[in-house]
Amino acid sequence: MKIDVIVGLQWGDEGKGKIVDYLAPKYNMVARFQGGPNAGHTIKIDKDQYVLHIMPSGIFHDNMLNLIGSGVVIDPVILMKEITQLEEIGINVREKLIISQKAHLILPTHKLIDAASEYSKGKKKIGSTLKGIGPTYMDKTGRNGLRVGDIFLSNFTEKYQNLKEKHLRFLKQFENVPEFDIENEEKRFFDKLNNLKKYKILNAEYFINEFLDSGKKVLAEGAQGTMLDINHGTYPFVTSSNTITAGVSVGLGVAPSRIDKVIGIVKAYTTRVGSGPFPTELNDETGEMLREKGHEFGATTGRKRRCGWIDIPQLKYSIMINGVTDIALTKLDVLNDFNPVKIGVNYKLDDNTVTNQLPYDLVNINVDPVYENHPGWNQDISQVRSVSDLPQNALSYINRLKKDLNTRITFISVGPERSALIVND
Ligand code: GDP
Ligand code: IMO
Ligand code: MG
Repeated sequence: MKIDVIVGLQWGDEGKGKIVDYLAPKYNMVARFQGGPNAGHTIKIDKDQYVLHIMPSGIFHDNMLNLIGSGVVIDPVILMKEITQLEEIGINVREKLIISQKAHLILPTHKLIDAASEYSKGKKKIGSTLKGIGPTYMDKTGRNGLRVGDIFLSNFTEKYQNLKEKHLRFLKQFENVPEFDIENEEKRFFDKLNNLKKYKILNAEYFINEFLDSGKKVLAEGAQGTMLDINHGTYPFVTSSNTITAGVSVGLGVAPSRIDKVIGIVKAYTTRVGSGPFPTELNDETGEMLREKGHEFGATTGRKRRCGWIDIPQLKYSIMINGVTDIALTKLDVLNDFNPVKIGVNYKLDDNTVTNQLPYDLVNINVDPVYENHPGWNQDISQVRSVSDLPQNALSYINRLKKDLNTRITFISVGPERSALIVND
């Protein structure tokens, strides 16, 4: 059996959580392969809304395993909080959750380094979620990190102390280090790690490969988005993991040949939270209206998301990098009242050349999007459930995107609820 993949094709928050939750019943397992609690995946089931940070978005379904894979970084305090909340509403997390022994641990001091490092950058800050992601991946690649499997070792406390001391020495270089109650944080960290021992912590690579061999289906759930990928995003304004399809293989320990469908999630416009280049950003009333209609505030940090029109060169790049087979277009309903709806079709560079490729350096180079106006539909589409019931102009917007992106638009999402989805086959 093969593995299908969900990846964000923009700067995150495309609506991955909703689509994973919708598609999950077709699979036997949902697996997160990278990132950590910087993610915020929102799922709306009837009137109840949940935001998941580390837990895979298949957790609300029965008979469904949820794997936190080796490529993920785990803050035990946040994970245990999520687990407790889910258990309170009757979800049997002990049965459904599997954690890889190889997932790295976010220490309290990783968060402290994240904050001190961001502060020291001043105006050049990344806009990190301050969850300790960058410093944890730095320790991982620097071969200093602690992994979930280590918590069972007799010398775990010693390993922890060594790394913490190293962090405290490192922190001395910063002028501004936030107030931090290390003793209290450390106590919580160890308490929650102890609680975590009650859950299934496995040699996950064997588990997932044997699961696939036995005919079971897996859906890999990406966090963040392609433009935040450490290699292929708008560096240095990125996160610290491989957010793209290739990250599935690395993060879960499954061979690339196991990957089948790649469903790229695309918001019908563009948003970005945090700093960094964003060619089609609108710093005007239209941008404000997108934020308001789309409720564009961060699910993890509550920050305002920057908003702008959809960007074809950016999406073509993401489709290329990820090998996207299907697109799920989300939040089309947010555009109900916009007229025209603009589409960024090309970039004009400083020397007046026009290109549909992303330049190497978007940070120091100015690109001016070339827009095409598309007529709006001025109609509420949130109750529409079939393609044939979509207004003509909404349909032609979809077809226009499909033509340029040269990819099937298989799902169209018209509201946050599980049911607000049109299948376009
Ligand atoms: P993720 O990080 O990619 O899972 O996305 P987020 O959950 O951070 O942000 C997406 C937001 O849009 C959430 O508040 C969702 O409930 C909401 N959402 C998802 N799909 C739709 C849609 O089709 N229409 C509307 N109006 N909201 C949606
Ligand atoms: P989901 O999975 C949107 C952004 C941060 C910051 C940069 C680096 O919900 O789509 P980090 O905390 O990783 O060091 O931050 O990446 N960022 C996200 N933006 N959605 C996310 O996740 C994000 N995770 C990180 O705002 O600009
Ligand atoms: Mg999000």
